[in-house]
Formats: sequence, C-alpha cells, structure tokens
Amino acid sequence: MIVAVIRPHKLHDVKSSLMDLGVLGMTVTDVRGCGRQKGHVERYRGSEYTIDLLAKIRLEIVVEDEQIETVLATIQRSAYTGEIGDGKIFVMPVEQSIRVRTGDRGSDSL
Ligand SMILES: Nc1ncnc2c1ncn2[C@@H]1O[C@H](COP(=O)(O)OP(=O)(O)OP(=O)(O)O)[C@@H](O)[C@H]1O
Ligand SMILES: [Mg+2]
Repeated sequence: MIVAVIRPHKLHDVKSSLMDLGVLGMTVTDVRGCGRQKGHVERYRGSEYTIDLLAKIRLEIVVEDEQIETVLATIQRSAYTGEIGDGKIFVMPVEQSIRVRTGDRGSDSL
C-alpha cells in the first residue's frame, strides 16, 4: 500500500496521472499535518514552540509489487512543485485484500 500525503491543489494532477497508469482503486482523505517546518511556511524566532497543521490530502493506493516503483515515480512527478511542503510518500505491506461483493482475494481483489 502506497500512502501519499500531498498538497490539496495537486490532487487532480496526481489522480489523473494514476488513472493514466491504469490504477483503478484509491482512497482519498482530507487530513492535516506538518513536516520538518512544523507547518510554518517560514522559520521565525519561537516557531519551535508551536506547531501549525496544514491541510493536506492523504491518498491510499494498494497495488501489485511490480507496480510500486512506477506509481511512486508518477506520484512524485505529479505532486511536485519544488517548494517545502510538497508532501511525503510511504510504502507499507498489506496482509490481505478482499472484494466484498465477490469474495475475491489478493491480486484478484484489486
Ligand atoms: N514523518 C512523517 N510522518 C507522517 N506524516 C508525515 C511525516 N512527514 C511529513 N508528513 C506528512 O506530510 C505532509 C507534508 O510534509 P512535508 O512535505 O512538509 O515534509 P518535509 O519532510 O517537511 O519536507 P519539506 O522540507 O520538503 O517540506 C505533512 O503535513 C504531514 O501530513
Ligand atoms: Mg515541510
């Protein structure tokens, strides 16, 4: 499972490039978060004592192992602006997956 935290205004670009890859399913959540700058656009005196949480989008995409690198590269390219706060991508194992309607499991369920 690839979990990507991206800028809200990049969702459209990221989503359409994933669609172009043939990615079928994804989960999108509105979240708030901070990274190294603790949510501050600029560092300023005292900022280390406060943390602001900025609006971000969290994408969850479960894919076959062979697709991981392509999906990672696509998300990184389409979520990029070059400014701080562009986001972060995590990869984690998934133990099982089941399509509720059919009972399909594993690859067949994606
Ligand atoms: N270590 C982390 N664990 C969980 N979520 C994180 C982590 N780092 C960043 N995030 C999430 O990603 C969002 C964007 O992080 P951000 O791009 O600011 O990372 P960064 O490490 O500060 O990189 P940059 O210096 O480019 O800003 C955060 O708002 C938060 O939601
Ligand atoms: Mg940051």
